[in-house]
Amino acid sequence: MDTLASYDELPYDSLPLPETQPDFLAAVAWLHGFEAPDPSRARILELGCAQGGNLIPLAWRWPGSECVGVELSRVQAEAGADFVRRLGLPNVRILHGDLAALPADLGEFDYIIAHGVFSWVPPAVQHALLDLCRRHLTADGLAYISFNVAAGWEQLLPLRQALLERTGSDLPAPERHRQALAVLDTLQREWSDPALLKEIAYLKTAAPSYLFHEYLAEFNAPMTFADFAARLESHALRYVGEAGPRSAVVELEDAWGLAPEGMAGRWLDAEAALDAALATRFRRALVCRDDAGFAQPARADRLESLAFYADLACDEDIDLDAAIGQHFVNPAGNTFPVSDPALKAAVIALSAAYPGALPFRELVSAARGVMDEFSAAASLEEGAFPEALFQLVMSHAVMPTVAAGAHASQPAERPCAHALARLQATSANWVVSGARHVAMDLDPAGRALLAMLDGSRTVEDLALAMQDMLREAGTVLPRETIVELTRRQLWLFARQGLLTA
Ligand SMILES: C[S@@+](CC[C@H](N)C(=O)[O-])C[C@H]1O[C@@H](n2cnc3c(N)ncnc32)[C@H](O)[C@@H]1O
Repeated sequence: MDTLASYDELPYDSLPLPETQPDFLAAVAWLHGFEAPDPSRARILELGCAQGGNLIPLAWRWPGSECVGVELSRVQAEAGADFVRRLGLPNVRILHGDLAALPADLGEFDYIIAHGVFSWVPPAVQHALLDLCRRHLTADGLAYISFNVAAGWEQLLPLRQALLERTGSDLPAPERHRQALAVLDTLQREWSDPALLKEIAYLKTAAPSYLFHEYLAEFNAPMTFADFAARLESHALRYVGEAGPRSAVVELEDAWGLAPEGMAGRWLDAEAALDAALATRFRRALVCRDDAGFAQPARADRLESLAFYADLACDEDIDLDAAIGQHFVNPAGNTFPVSDPALKAAVIALSAAYPGALPFRELVSAARGVMDEFSAAASLEEGAFPEALFQLVMSHAVMPTVAAGAHASQPAERPCAHALARLQATSANWVVSGARHVAMDLDPAGRALLAMLDGSRTVEDLALAMQDMLREAGTVLPRETIVELTRRQLWLFARQGLLTA
């Protein structure tokens, strides 16, 4: 096949995906007893990489890595290759081609990423994907393969069926998407199943490319975890662990009534039971060669050799004296309840250090520092802390990493943003990626300000330029307000690691 017309017509929103960061994958694997390669010198392959919105920021972040992306849609692959050319980044290539027919001389990779691909390609390509993971993974390499899970998807299949039947398969993708939106309105009136109505409401606000490529794609084959594990086995691969958020041990204990130590031998069965209990819809599986080291359920005692970062806020007064549940929210809007005072102190310390990460021992002392500063009545118990932190790590409220890295630098007198951020800010259909591989939600004014940060203008100059720009767009703001807004935005850029020192 020469290209994928549906993705040429309606390209996928190509975003940084935090759960594919190799330093995070290595940390998750470590929790499962598996030692993965050093991300800063890794060879990284991304399959079905769209225009490279995920891979290019990874290559930028790890200049010592070598990154290759493969994408079948010509339009997307060319957009990615063009962006790389304009950025002049030497350690990343986006190739237009079929992952099922990769050039044999691509060599081995320490990390292979396939997000949103495995369930959405025909069986022969699924087979080729696993086959290439086996052939192209290094001995201690990790593959990240996400897929739709039958347990949660079964209830959504009537919706996919209705959309497929009631829209024209011969229409160009954008037109079929418009038709699908009208069908959703009709279904909203016709149907009463709360789960389906909730999904319909979500789809009406979701990115067009999501609705189209999830619900109107030719292939979308949700599978059971047991089926996935069996397929891995038949390709001489093995499951390492889950890179998606979860409620960790609690889930497994609920599903099996077992403590993690007693569960090692029945781990894969427990994972399958978990999907049934929770109606899991999506999995992000970490996979290794079957001749690589042994993996086991994640364990809290392995946290001690990792570092951690978090960007959480709480709009209540934080109670460090008593175990009272309080809600912390991350920038994506996910809420995490925390009651243990030591854990609340740790979250405060991590959010103050963001985007920096704190190694375990530093986190313990920083949390104690916070508790001392606020004369907390409670104290941090060394024995209980790892288990408490483990729950937040497994739910991704706190992210683990094998590489502390990433520091904010204060806005300089003449602020300067790095070249990737400026090119993203000025390129249509590209999002700006912040430190820790997050997609930043910038409005046009924020993008315009970022684009101006070439180190030649003072904050005052920038504010004046922003004032002119906004006035032309019909918004008149007093100078002090615009200076304040500019400063605030610059601090946000600094916190996201976009500014050079
Ligand atoms: C659902 S999108 C996911 C894109 C991206 N990985 C992400 O998550 O943002 C699936 C991507 O896989 C690409 N794709 C599908 N079949 C492929 C194949 N045989 N070889 C290479 N890419 C393929 C599609 O063109 C599309 O860009």
